[in-house]
Amino acid sequence: MIDISNVTKIFKTKNQNITAVDNVGLHVKKGEIFGVIGYSGAGKSTLIRLLNGLEQPTEGTVTVTGDEISGMSLKDLRRKRQKVSMIFQHFNLLWSRTVAENISFPLEIAGVPKKERRARVAELIRLVGLEGRENNYPSELSGGQKQRVGIARALSNEPQVLLCDEATSALDPETTDEVLDLLVDITKKMSLTIVLITHEMHVIRKICDRAAVMENGKVVEVGPVIELFQNPQSGVTKRFVKDDISDDDHAVAMEEIKAAFPTSTIVKLTFVGTRTKSPIVSQVIRDYGLDVNILSGNIKQTNQESYGHLYIALDINNETLEKITAEFKKHDVTLEVESR
Ligand SMILES: Nc1ncnc2c1ncn2[C@@H]1O[C@H](COP(=O)(O)OP(=O)(O)OP(=O)(O)O)[C@@H](O)[C@H]1O
Ligand SMILES: [Mg+2]
Repeated sequence: MIDISNVTKIFKTKNQNITAVDNVGLHVKKGEIFGVIGYSGAGKSTLIRLLNGLEQPTEGTVTVTGDEISGMSLKDLRRKRQKVSMIFQHFNLLWSRTVAENISFPLEIAGVPKKERRARVAELIRLVGLEGRENNYPSELSGGQKQRVGIARALSNEPQVLLCDEATSALDPETTDEVLDLLVDITKKMSLTIVLITHEMHVIRKICDRAAVMENGKVVEVGPVIELFQNPQSGVTKRFVKDDISDDDHAVAMEEIKAAFPTSTIVKLTFVGTRTKSPIVSQVIRDYGLDVNILSGNIKQTNQESYGHLYIALDINNETLEKITAEFKKHDVTLEVESR
């Protein structure tokens, strides 16, 4: 679907050359929601702008749905951008046009007849949940509603690829989740491929299938989201994952917990993937006749699976501890003893 092959982008400024994207290779599959995460200045926006030809690579090639974007003529690029559209952090709406007129704009440019435009706009307004707001101006809408207009406008020419540059960064957490849900919904309905960039691991966790982590222009890690969370390799990925599950708070609480259960064994159960939902904990507790106290837990949901940990206190002898460790392992749950 999208192939980025050995791509480097160097910006030549008066005083220096800045390597914004440094020898990146990535493949995005059809129908997937692919995330790119990195801190400010990592090169995310530059990378995504290479996908619709807003930037041209200094080296390497970018191919989107069979067309090589790098080296395309401006005329061909304009045509191509109807199929590779984009939404932005600050929405980039036309302030003097109403909601319906904003959504209609790309269709006017593409020369779609008026009647067809009307029908298409009405359909898009329904799709993004803005019924009744057709004749409002952007200044009369909330941030989340503005981004819904941005999404409807981006979808008007029935693109194959939707690029999202920090599309939820200007929104509060609740509105962010609503917009993310909308993107998932649309991907399913329209057989769309999404590439989104963000500096929030929450966004990656919530909707992406796979993600790449960028640092200093390079992709330092790429893989299915659940794997990035389970087993982050690079320092940056570890930082992002840690921020998302905020283990720091936990470390503090742990000391208090140990003090509260001085004679118990405290264990940490780590769940990865689909097993989290199965009642494995209660089953083991029952089978071994154990008494447990659930101390704290942090189970998070990715778009398909759950992962996280659960801390429990129990009174248990060595033999039983070994047995339940093996039992949990069979179900892909790791048991670690925190204190005993
Ligand atoms: N047009 C440009 N001319 C010169 N340097 C640029 C240009 N665009 C980006 N850069 C530089 O390239 C590097 C990567 O910038 P980019 O905007 O891609 O980062 P980013 O990951 O999107 O950051 P942010 O999260 O802050 O949006 C930065 O050092 C930036 O200053
Ligand atoms: Mg950026």
